[in-house]
Amino acid sequence: MVIEPKAANEAVPLPAQPTEQSWSRTHLLDVDTLSREEILLLLETAEGMEEVLHRRVARTPALRGITVVNLFYEPSTRTRASFELAGKVLSADVINLAGSGSSADKGESLVDTVRTLEAVGANVLVLRHGSSGAPYLAARHTSAHIINAGDGWHAHPTQALLDAYTLRKKLGSLEGKRIVIVGDIKHSRVARSNMWALTTLGASLTLVGPRTLLPVGLEAAADGGLPSVAIEDNLDRAIEGADAVMALRVQRERLGAASLPSLREYASLYQVNSERLSRAAEGAPLLHPGPMNEGVEISSDVAHGIQSEVERQVQHGVAVRMAALYLLARTGE
Ligand code: CP
Repeated sequence: MVIEPKAANEAVPLPAQPTEQSWSRTHLLDVDTLSREEILLLLETAEGMEEVLHRRVARTPALRGITVVNLFYEPSTRTRASFELAGKVLSADVINLAGSGSSADKGESLVDTVRTLEAVGANVLVLRHGSSGAPYLAARHTSAHIINAGDGWHAHPTQALLDAYTLRKKLGSLEGKRIVIVGDIKHSRVARSNMWALTTLGASLTLVGPRTLLPVGLEAAADGGLPSVAIEDNLDRAIEGADAVMALRVQRERLGAASLPSLREYASLYQVNSERLSRAAEGAPLLHPGPMNEGVEISSDVAHGIQSEVERQVQHGVAVRMAALYLLARTGE
């Protein structure tokens, strides 16, 4: 028998994965119901995916025959590009649809769109939508797997998972680490999902922002159901000794003048800049989910400085989304 040498572009199987059998979720709608073991399984699977991404030919046949549809009703750069790349690296067939330009413009409902996409063969639907709860509605009307790629103010699970992945790479275990999240907490699906992901992994969170941008009732939740979450309106106090800092985007499109009368005043009190970052623990990683408003919630020097993890977050997003696609698409096999 003659064994032919491998062609340079031949897809190579995945490295050994952690115990996939322990993943039984049909959808990934948020992280609030995921156990610590499930989160760790996803993050460990992402480690294997990162190994694939570092190969000379980043391609594996793991999801050959699977169709992934990225259905985005809201703008996105990072999430959409990384889901597309993640699907392609896993050899899935990937279709990208924006709400604008689809039959949604002609009045088709989300449910009808989801059913239509299932009928054309979608196995996984990655859905971004401006309405909180839209992925939950979709999940009730399809047998395809739904991944929430950000719904309104509610949740952004793959962002929180890639943030946890990035923090664990820098800090090791998150057990006992104190992480400051500063900004527009009220409108932030990233903060909400991180609240679950990071505390489940053992971190304590300090959520910081002006009172108008802190959700009503959060303090009661912090006293009761979420004991590892503290609320602060003074960043200078909160950042002292923090193990990591995450700045959030000021979401001008979701803010009224009553919530934030002046960006200049906001920046003077809540911008993460070099002076403030120097008060966190030495070398504390700085995260931002993007897109950044440099000069508002983050200064340009720290956004691109040595403590910034912003580009690595984006890179890790591909591996984490590969892990999510892989685990979900194989559920029920
Ligand atoms: N972090 C995030 O969701 O970015 P995009 O809106 O660019 O996807």
